[in-house]
Amino acid sequence: MNDKKHSDKYSVEEFVKKFGFDNCVLELLNFIEKDNKTIKDIIINKYLEKPISEVQEEELFNYFINNSVFSAATAANPATSVVTEFLYTKPKQISFIDNYFLKSQGGDAIYSRFKHVEKNIHQLIEERSKKGKILIGNFGGGPSRDISNIFSKHYYDNNNILAINIDKDKTAIKRGQRIAKILNVEDKIKFLETSFMRYKPKEKFDIIILVGVLCGLPSESCVMVLKKIYKCLKENGCVIASNATPKMLEKDPFTYFIMDKITNWKLVFKKEETLKEIFKKSGFNWERSFTDDYGFHCMGIGKKNKSFFNMF
Ligand SMILES: C[S@@+](CC[C@H](N)C(=O)[O-])C[C@H]1O[C@@H](n2cnc3c(N)ncnc32)[C@H](O)[C@@H]1O
Repeated sequence: MNDKKHSDKYSVEEFVKKFGFDNCVLELLNFIEKDNKTIKDIIINKYLEKPISEVQEEELFNYFINNSVFSAATAANPATSVVTEFLYTKPKQISFIDNYFLKSQGGDAIYSRFKHVEKNIHQLIEERSKKGKILIGNFGGGPSRDISNIFSKHYYDNNNILAINIDKDKTAIKRGQRIAKILNVEDKIKFLETSFMRYKPKEKFDIIILVGVLCGLPSESCVMVLKKIYKCLKENGCVIASNATPKMLEKDPFTYFIMDKITNWKLVFKKEETLKEIFKKSGFNWERSFTDDYGFHCMGIGKKNKSFFNMF
């Protein structure tokens, strides 16, 4: 009873206005209110940090996972590429909640990250391909949609540009093999189902991509991952590593509220300075960075410099 009283303080319109949320939050909450007023009340109360009973928590969780593919996939495994693929492929005929994720700034920023990552990988390949063969490692690459796209658009008939995609998720690997086949680049990408932390490459890489992997990790774990990547690179090889920035929390707090408090997808937001520090501690020279259109993700590019001892 008490909770209901609190949430009745705000209509959906007042709540959205008070916190300055986007119009898509208004649409989402209006829709939920029409469908199930109790759930709308629980959401507002939870956002306001009012006490929520276990019964209400369970009702809210069930509502999201039963009405949203995106929420169900995230709740099952926050790091799954099913979620990123959903945002990259923008499916039609989806539920209202799923449509919210596509329209929200946080969701669209992940799509935008994908586009900027593709552009920058292509640029790095072009800068390096004059010297001959290029081997790319997509670590935690999911189904490697980015690499398959780049290969099919730009290197369709170039056998000097090859990639190895490493992911511990069998389903992502199988999906990637299908995508590569559909795009006619299956002879250019090898798919390995393993943890990249245990991987011992036979041949070192020119470029390693790490997108959507560090976002949930604290800085110390990121350093461990990047040290492993450093060992897998050739001298003068480079890494592209993405990270969620605090700007996402600042500009789209409602989407992160759903991710964090309802589907349990927790991110460790890091500023560019923190990412630079992580690169430095892992042995990399910071080259440059780029972001998605919203600045919600910062992609650092670091280079493994020629070892001083190997120069003589
Ligand atoms: C959010 S998805 C991102 C996929 C892809 N990089 C992209 O940009 O769309 C993160 C992926 O990293 C994989 N992953 C996380 N840690 C891993 C590890 N130690 N070894 C291999 N794969 C890992 C997960 O299985 C998942 O497919």
